[in-house]
Amino acid sequence: MKNLLKLSNLHVFRGETQILWDISLQVAEGEKVAILGSNGAGKSTLLLSIMGALPSNIGKIHFADRLITGLKAYQIIREGLALVPEGRRVYRDMTVWENLEIGAYPKRGRKDKDRTRAHIIQLFPILAERKHQAAGTLSGGEQQMLAIGRALMSRPRMLFIDELSLGLAPLITKDIFKVLDALSSETTILLVEQNVEQALKHSERAYILESGRITRSGPSDDLAKDEDIRRAYLGL
Ligand SMILES: Nc1ncnc2c1ncn2[C@@H]1O[C@H](COP(=O)(O)OP(=O)(O)O)[C@@H](O)[C@H]1O
Ligand SMILES: [Mg+2]
Repeated sequence: MKNLLKLSNLHVFRGETQILWDISLQVAEGEKVAILGSNGAGKSTLLLSIMGALPSNIGKIHFADRLITGLKAYQIIREGLALVPEGRRVYRDMTVWENLEIGAYPKRGRKDKDRTRAHIIQLFPILAERKHQAAGTLSGGEQQMLAIGRALMSRPRMLFIDELSLGLAPLITKDIFKVLDALSSETTILLVEQNVEQALKHSERAYILESGRITRSGPSDDLAKDEDIRRAYLGL
């Protein structure tokens, strides 16, 4: 399969502090890949860096065969990357529909907007029921659905999801992961998660990030069986 995203020897700094060291990874078109690690490992920093939100990095980032290192965030979004940020960050005072509308703002999303929204509603029917409600009045799970829907409105080639499960009840988390399984036939997905058990279940491959370095990688099924990983992350 062809690589859609490729990081080569990426080093990322926040201010003077180096947060990520020598990160190399690839995600093929159509793959569902997870980056796992505990709080503070550098997962969000990695996604923000790829999205062009942290300009201070060394190394190469290729997306769809194009070198995107150094591009501005809006240019990267235009290339077809979309991020569902940690903590969801929906516009609380705006309605569900208005939040989706904002997601369609990048050029790729303006075309076929109604069709894209209809598709998102098929994935998350509750968003149609709540369309005139302020996003701040939704439950945590519904806000996560809205945040994913908003990102999908730009019709991305690749979707980043930062901590889907954070603060959500296990059953809700499971439901949303199931929708992602359905979605993965149409979009390439990179998940970042502290919830190692769920993320391994719903990804094909995974990388383990520890203190800013990738320490392990492989098929998710293999990692889920691995003794060290079970001890460190699954409490077994
Ligand atoms: N705005 C910031 N400025 C400086 N350092 C930061 C900032 N945000 C996070 N960090 C540091 O970067 C490291 C990685 O954080 P983060 O990427 O948020 O980890 P994760 O998403 O895996 O929990 C942590 O040591 C954190 O303290
Ligand atoms: Mg994070």
